[in-house]
Amino acid sequence: MHHFDYKAGRLHCEDVDLGKIADAVGTPLYVYSTATLRRHASVIAAAFADIDCLIAYSVKANGNLAVLATLAAEGCGADVVSGGEMLRALKAGIPARRIVFSGVGKTREEMTLGLEQGIHQFNVESGAELETLSEVASSMGVKAPIAIRVNPDVAAGGHPNISTGKQGDKFGVPWAEAEPLYARAGELTGIEVCGVDVHIGSQIGDLEPMRRAFAKTVELTRRLRASGHNVSRIDFGGGLGIPYEASDAPASPADYAAMVRDVIGDLPVQVILEPGRVIAGNAGVMMTEVLYQKPAPDRTFLIVDAGMNDLMRPALYAAHHDVLPLNAPEKTDRNDTYDIVGPICESTDKFATRRDLPPVKSGDRLAFLSAGAYGAVLSSQYNARPLIPEVLVDGENYAIVRRRPSFDEMTQLEAMPDWLS
Ligand code: LLP
Repeated sequence: MHHFDYKAGRLHCEDVDLGKIADAVGTPLYVYSTATLRRHASVIAAAFADIDCLIAYSVKANGNLAVLATLAAEGCGADVVSGGEMLRALKAGIPARRIVFSGVGKTREEMTLGLEQGIHQFNVESGAELETLSEVASSMGVKAPIAIRVNPDVAAGGHPNISTGKQGDKFGVPWAEAEPLYARAGELTGIEVCGVDVHIGSQIGDLEPMRRAFAKTVELTRRLRASGHNVSRIDFGGGLGIPYEASDAPASPADYAAMVRDVIGDLPVQVILEPGRVIAGNAGVMMTEVLYQKPAPDRTFLIVDAGMNDLMRPALYAAHHDVLPLNAPEKTDRNDTYDIVGPICESTDKFATRRDLPPVKSGDRLAFLSAGAYGAVLSSQYNARPLIPEVLVDGENYAIVRRRPSFDEMTQLEAMPDWLS
């Protein structure tokens, strides 16, 4: 469910004509819908309303400050994976007590920041990290609240590159090592054991692998409690999939919540969730303008002004994004077939292969849908292209929430060494 629709033949985000935004801001650019962000956050909150639950939005999906502030106002906490994401969440008004800190490679500086701020929980991913966190906390005279991220050895996820819960993945503590590590955690002066954490992957549409992983985690929690550990929270991570095309039918938040309630049964725990894509994914589009058509013997290329540096998902994961023209096609239009490519000097700079679209010409604009998660955050300045602007719509209003940098801003961190100046 999202708020990008044709009105009077023109694609709108909520009540704003996307063509008007493109005229004012220039292409390529991202546009996000406040109503969609709010709706997704509230649907998840409603699905879990009857249990003690912290919805810690996964900042990595879309960390724009205005997006975070929108979600903070909906009561979301944050799942962060770096000091930078933590500072973003705090700056956007998410209280530290609603922040969980995940990731396999936290530095001492990042641990110190989290402890100074008083975050809800560190999700620890190895014995070495646990020892370091204890040292850092002890030196500050505090205890770090922790969950250990366990690897349940369950495969899931929309693409091998986004599966994280299988033996051999770098994430989590191997299953057999989890209980000995909790025993060690109980001995460490700088550590306060609070919970168990699991996250098995992303873009998961089928609940069964999650159910298996979560059931194992609940079993482990019961055993840990029986052996005297104060495990009062289970963090089930993120990972719920979204529809990228009409034929996708991922499980709904309500089905997901029913499954979670079923696996936790009567266990008295706070549930922590780290949804990213399911909140932000369908709340954003990337708009681009067609520069040229280039006929080839076996196909027609549509060369657009956005590149793989602006939206990496097709190049990284062969991901599909639906494409809509900003002007609604006429009923009489038949589709043509195009390969949609960008201007970057890489063969992977390709957004779609043999895609059917109504006839398109230079100067027409297109919207890549479902680009609100892992879109802008993954972008780069490759080929010395500026990061593209981000715009947030709310009803009939819109605002630029990240502007396009100038060439001077793009190069201002660079310096000439003495011998060249
Ligand atoms: N929690 C942890 C520990 C994670 O690693 C992730 C995503 C999430 C939560 C949020 O997962 P979500 O609810 O968004 O599925 N760039 C890839 C996805 C990478 C996911 C990384 N971790 C893509 O564009 O498909």
